[in-house]
Amino acid sequence: MDQPVTKRITVSTLQSAYQKGEKIAALTCYDATFALILENAGIHVLLVGDSLGNVIQGQSSTLPVTLNEMIYHVRCVGRGTRSVFILADMPFGTFQVSPQETFRNAARLMSAGAQMVKIEGGRHMAETIEFLTCRGIPVCAHIGLTPQSVHQFGGYKIQGKTTNAARQLREDALLLQEAGAAMLVMELIPAALGEEITRSLAIPTIGIGAGAVCSGQVLVLHDMLGISSGTLPRFVRNFMMGTDSIQSAVRNYVEAVKTGEFPAHEHMF
Ligand code: KIV
Repeated sequence: MDQPVTKRITVSTLQSAYQKGEKIAALTCYDATFALILENAGIHVLLVGDSLGNVIQGQSSTLPVTLNEMIYHVRCVGRGTRSVFILADMPFGTFQVSPQETFRNAARLMSAGAQMVKIEGGRHMAETIEFLTCRGIPVCAHIGLTPQSVHQFGGYKIQGKTTNAARQLREDALLLQEAGAAMLVMELIPAALGEEITRSLAIPTIGIGAGAVCSGQVLVLHDMLGISSGTLPRFVRNFMMGTDSIQSAVRNYVEAVKTGEFPAHEHMF
C-alpha cells in the first residue's frame, strides 16, 4: 500500500489493500511528534489507543481513561499527520450503556479527527456496532483479550484456549462482521485461532499476539521501541534493537509486517 503523502488513507484504501492481500501495519500513537515520525516511516494506521492510560498516564490499567482525554490525543495525532489512517479507542464506560449514547460519544471522537472508532467486546456489542455503522461511523471491533475487561478476566490472560471459548470467539467475529464492523482487532489468542478467524471473514483482521495469519499487525508504540516499563509481553519484538533511530525501527517494523517476518514463531501462542 504505497500512498502519496498528501492523500489520506481511508477505510476503502484499507479494504482494497486487504483484498489485494497486502498487510496492514498499525501502531498506537498519542501525540503529534510521534505521529509524524510514524507516518513518514510508512505506517498505515495509527491507533489512538486507551493504552495511553498505561504508557502516558502511568495508570495500572486502561479503565481510568476518559473520553475527553481520548479526544485530546486524537486531536494531537491528527495535527501531526497528513496521510495516515486514524483509529480511536472508545474508552471504558462510553459505549456500554446504549447505542444512542455510544453514537454521541463516538461522534465526538470522529469530530476530533478519528476516521473509525474501536469498541472492545463480542456479540453483545453487535447492536451498537450496527447502530453506529448505519449512521456513518465506521467501527473496528476488538475481541480476545479486551483490556477494559481485565478485572473480569482476572488478569491479562490468553483467551480462546478451550474448544468452547474458541468457538465463541469465532462466532463473535462473524456476528460483529455481520453487524457492520469494518475491521477486527484480535488480541492475545492462539495463532491457530487467529488464522481460522481471519480466513472466515471478509474484513481485515489486525492481530496483537494473535499469530501471523492476520491481515495486519498492531503493537503498542512504547513496547516496540523498548521504552515501556516492566517486562515486554512475549508477542512484542523490540525493533530498536540493532538500529539507531526511531524512524528506522518503525520502518523495519512496517517491512517486517508487510513481508510476514513479524510476528515470528517466538511471538505466538
Ligand atoms: O489501546 C491499545 O493500545 C489497544 C491495542 C492493545 C490493540 O487497544
